[in-house]
Amino acid sequence: METESKTYPKEWKEIERLARGVFEQGRGRADVWTHRDGGAETGSTFRRNVEAFDQLGFEARFIHDVTAPELAVDLMGKRVSCSIAIGPMSSVIAKVCDETFVAMAEGCKEAGIIASCGFPVATDTLRKMVQTGAWAFQVIKPLKDRGKLKAEVERVEQEGGIAVGVDVDSIAGLKATGDEPHFHEICTTYSVKELAEVRSRTKLPFIVKGVLSVEDAIAAIDSGADIIVVSTHAGFAMDYTRSSLEVLPAIRKAVGKRATIILDSGVRRGSDVIKALALGADAVFIGRLALWGLAMDGASGLAWVLKLIREEMARTMILMGIKKVGDLHPGCLVPLGPMGERILESC
Ligand SMILES: Cc1cc2nc3c(=O)[nH]c(=O)nc-3n(C[C@H](O)[C@H](O)[C@H](O)COP(=O)(O)O)c2cc1C
Repeated sequence: METESKTYPKEWKEIERLARGVFEQGRGRADVWTHRDGGAETGSTFRRNVEAFDQLGFEARFIHDVTAPELAVDLMGKRVSCSIAIGPMSSVIAKVCDETFVAMAEGCKEAGIIASCGFPVATDTLRKMVQTGAWAFQVIKPLKDRGKLKAEVERVEQEGGIAVGVDVDSIAGLKATGDEPHFHEICTTYSVKELAEVRSRTKLPFIVKGVLSVEDAIAAIDSGADIIVVSTHAGFAMDYTRSSLEVLPAIRKAVGKRATIILDSGVRRGSDVIKALALGADAVFIGRLALWGLAMDGASGLAWVLKLIREEMARTMILMGIKKVGDLHPGCLVPLGPMGERILESC
C-alpha cells in the first residue's frame, strides 16, 4: 500500500463528494444506506446524532507544553493507535470498492486499528479479513434461529476474531430512507437469560451493540457483556430516539468500570471523537467515514481517512492542552446550545 505517496483530498467535503460519486454508480444498495439524509423513517434520529455533536464545544487552552498528545489506547485486548475502530457493517457495503472487507482489514492494519464485519456477510468474510493479519471482530444479528446465532458466535472465535457480539437494536429489522425494511424476518428479541446463553459460547470479549438506555446497559452487563456499544445503528434502527451522545453520560455513570463503552452514530470529525471520549466513551466506532475512505481508494483511502481523523484528534487536544486521551473529562467541554447544556448537566 502506498498511502504516503498518493495524493488525496484533505478537505472532508471533497472526500465525501468523491465517495458519493462512487456510491451513485449503483454499488449494491450502498448509495441508499450511506446517503447523507439516511436513517429510518423521518431520519429524526439520524439528524439528531449529528446535531448533538454540533452542540458541544471545547474549553480552549493555549498556554502550556502539550505538543504531541498520546492517542494510543488498549481496546479489545490490543494496543491500538487511537480510540477508533470500524463499526460492523453488512454485505450492503460489499461493492463499495474491490473486496471491500479485505480492503478494510488492510487499511486498518496500516492504521493500527481494529476492523470488523456485521451480518449478513459472505461466509468467508471474517476469515479473509483475519488472513491479512489485521485485528477483526464480528457482530451477528439477534437471529430468530437461536441455534444459528450460537453457532455463528463459536465460528467467530474459531476463525480468529478478537471479539464477537450481537446488535440488539436490530430486533425489529432496519430501515434506511428510500429503501425497503430489512432483516425483520430473520431477527427477534432476546432476554437477558437468552443473551447470557449466547455469551457462554465464547471466551472472546462479548459485545452488546445498540444500547440507548441505562436499563439496557445494565441488562447487557447482566448477560455477560464486556463491551457495550451506545449506538443508534447509524439511525437505521428506531426513529425519534435520543442521540447516542445524549445518553452516554448516564450510561457511563451506571456502568462505571464494569464494561468498556464504545459510542457510535454521527462521528464525522476527529473532534467528534474527542467529545465522545470526554463524555465517558472508551472508544468510538466509525461507519460512514470509513466507507468514504474505502470508496475513494480502497485500503489506502481508508488509511488516509484514519490518518486525517488522528491528526484532527491530536490538533484538538493540543488546543485543549490535554496530554493523553485518558485525561479527557466532561469539564473539557462547553455547551453551544440547549442540547449541549442538557448533555453536560447529565454528567
Ligand atoms: C452501510 C451500513 C451497514 C451497516 N451494517 C451493520 C451491521 O450489519 N451490523 C451492525 O451492528 N451495524 C451495522 N451498521 C451500523 C454501524 O456499525 C455503526 O453503528 C454506524 O454506521 C455508526 O454510525 P455512522 O455511520 O454515523 O458512523 C451499518 C452501517 C452502515 C452505514
